[in-house]
Amino acid sequence: MTVSSAPGKVYLFGEHAVVYGEPAVPCAVERRATVSVSLRDDDHVRVRAEDLSLNGFTVEYSGSTGGRPDVDVPAPLVEAAMGYIDAAVEQARDAAGVPDAGFDISVESDIPLGAGLGSSAAVVVAGIDAATRELGVELSPREIADRAYQAEYEVQDGQASRADTFCSAMGGAVRVEGDDCRTIDAPALPFVIGFDGGAGDTGALVSGVRELRERYDFAADTVSTIGDIVRRGEELLADADPDEEPTEELLSELGGFMNFNHGLLEALGVSSRSLDSMVWAAREAGAHGAKLTGAGGGGCIVALDPTPESQTGLRFTPGCEDAFRAELAIEGVRVEEPPATDGDEPTTDGDDTLVGDST
Ligand code: PMV
Repeated sequence: MTVSSAPGKVYLFGEHAVVYGEPAVPCAVERRATVSVSLRDDDHVRVRAEDLSLNGFTVEYSGSTGGRPDVDVPAPLVEAAMGYIDAAVEQARDAAGVPDAGFDISVESDIPLGAGLGSSAAVVVAGIDAATRELGVELSPREIADRAYQAEYEVQDGQASRADTFCSAMGGAVRVEGDDCRTIDAPALPFVIGFDGGAGDTGALVSGVRELRERYDFAADTVSTIGDIVRRGEELLADADPDEEPTEELLSELGGFMNFNHGLLEALGVSSRSLDSMVWAAREAGAHGAKLTGAGGGGCIVALDPTPESQTGLRFTPGCEDAFRAELAIEGVRVEEPPATDGDEPTTDGDDTLVGDST
C-alpha cells in the first residue's frame, strides 16, 4: 500500500481576477487529504472514502464512471466524487504506462468540501502521487501538479485554474498567472478559517463576474485593481524574512490588503451574508484582515490572526459552523506511513457506508 497526502489552500489574494490573467497568491494550509492506494490483480477500481461529506462511501467500479456504481445515493454526489478519483486514476495509469491497472483506494480528508479550500485538488494530487508510486513511478511535484490540473480540467469542463492543484502539489505560498506557476517565499502566516457549512456554485459565480466585467468598465477596473493588490501583496511577502515569524507590521499591511480585496470581491457580487458576517466577526475580534477565499457565495473566509481571538469570535458568530486555525503548509504532496494493518484495510469488502462528495 502507498499512502500520500496533499494540503488544501486559501487564497491570500486574487481569486476571480486570476481568471482574467491577473496574478493570484494561494497558500497551502495544514488541512490535508490522504489517499491510500493498493494495486489489485485485476483492472477494477474500488474506492472507500470517509470524512468527505456524508460520512463516506464505498463503491466498486470497473473502467470509468460511465458504468456508475450501483449504490443508493444521489447520482450527482457519486458522479462528482467518482469523477475526480477516476480522472486521478487515469492520469496515474497514463504516467506509468499501465492502462489497465486496478486499485483499491481509500480517501480521508479534513478539508471542508467545495468551500474554497481546494478539497478536490488535494484528493486528486494525493491520489495521483500514491497511485503512480504504487506502480513504481515517482513523479516530481510539478509533474503531479500538471497531471492533477489535467484531471480537474476534465472533470470541471475546462473551468479549472491551475491555482488549487499547483498549490496543493508544491505547498507553501505560490503565485499563479495564467499558465505561469511559481512558488514564492512567505513567512508562516497565522491563518484562521471560518466555514459557514455551505458551498458556492463556482461556475455561476465566475459567470456573474464575467458578465459584470463585460458590461461595465468600472467592473473591469475592479478586476484589474484586484491584480494591483496582488502585486503589492507579493512585494510585501518578497521583503519579509520567510524564516522569521511575520512581524506585526507585515501582518497589518497584508491584512489591510486582504480587507481591500474582500471589498472588491463583495462589489463584484461574490460574497454572501454569512461570509460577510464571518469577515466582520474576525475583524472585530482583532484580526489584521479577513476576506472570503475561493469562488465565494458561501463556504470559507480566511483571517490573519496570531491570537486565539478571531477563532473564538467566529465560533460565536451566527452562520459560522466551524472555525479553525490552519498554518501555512510548507510541504505539498508527500508520502505518509501506511497505517499498521489490523485486518481492516480498504481492500476488504462489505462496508456499505454512505456516499460522500469530492467536489
Ligand atoms: O472555490 P475554489 O477554491 O475552487 O476557487 C475558485 C477560484 C476562482 O478564481 C473563482 C476560479 C478559478 O478557477 O480560479
